[in-house]
Amino acid sequence: MIKIAQGAEAVIYKDNNKIIKERLSKAYRLKEIDESLRKFRTRREAKILGRLEEVNFPAPHLQSFCDKRMEIVMDFVAGNKLRDVIEEGDAYQKFAKQIGERVGVLHQKDIIHGDLTTSNMIVSDSGLKLIDFGLSSFSDRVEDKAVDLFLLDRALESKHYEIYPAVFDNVLESYKETYREGAELVLKRFEQVRMRGRNKIK
Ligand SMILES: Nc1ncnc2c1ncn2[C@@H]1O[C@H](COP(=O)(O)OP(=O)(O)O)[C@@H](O)[C@H]1O
Ligand SMILES: [Mg+2]
Repeated sequence: MIKIAQGAEAVIYKDNNKIIKERLSKAYRLKEIDESLRKFRTRREAKILGRLEEVNFPAPHLQSFCDKRMEIVMDFVAGNKLRDVIEEGDAYQKFAKQIGERVGVLHQKDIIHGDLTTSNMIVSDSGLKLIDFGLSSFSDRVEDKAVDLFLLDRALESKHYEIYPAVFDNVLESYKETYREGAELVLKRFEQVRMRGRNKIK
């Protein structure tokens, strides 16, 4: 078993074809709050992965979870992070299309990813897979979906400014094609969220 990543919230181990994601306790949180928060997030991430599997969404297969050890065991997804692939290649419009499709399907199923960045997307042999559902939730609210898109927009601009906004325009194109009628209200709201963002920065 080797440690392959350490984020603010979790440590990730790889054991053959398994990934173990263990949520860390935070000393700055009250012990009781810390435990219930980690328990809640561990359960929720497992629940979302289970739901994604039911609808055949390209995300890691959930093997097991334990809300005492605060860990999730899932399949290892082989491939490179989209973040690195985009930096090296010029096929980014192909990926833009896939991002839009993936997010369109999630929102159609009333699932909010919560952390849509190109570091949470893996280019696998069978196409783009999404990972890191630690901040995900179930919601049919237009606002939640619009904010999900807004975070993606921000992530693309800050990490991939050379190809922005062309890449994001294509993401939205395929999002619309996938999510169809549902996309209209979300995109309208997205424009408002964007305006709010601008006003804040000023
Ligand atoms: N199922 C998986 N398959 C392959 N790599 C993974 C998987 N889950 C996590 N990773 C790797 O570990 C990193 C951190 O995991 P992630 O779930 O994104 O946690 P964090 O909340 O710390 O960002 C990812 O960016 C990815 O490199
Ligand atoms: Mg992540």
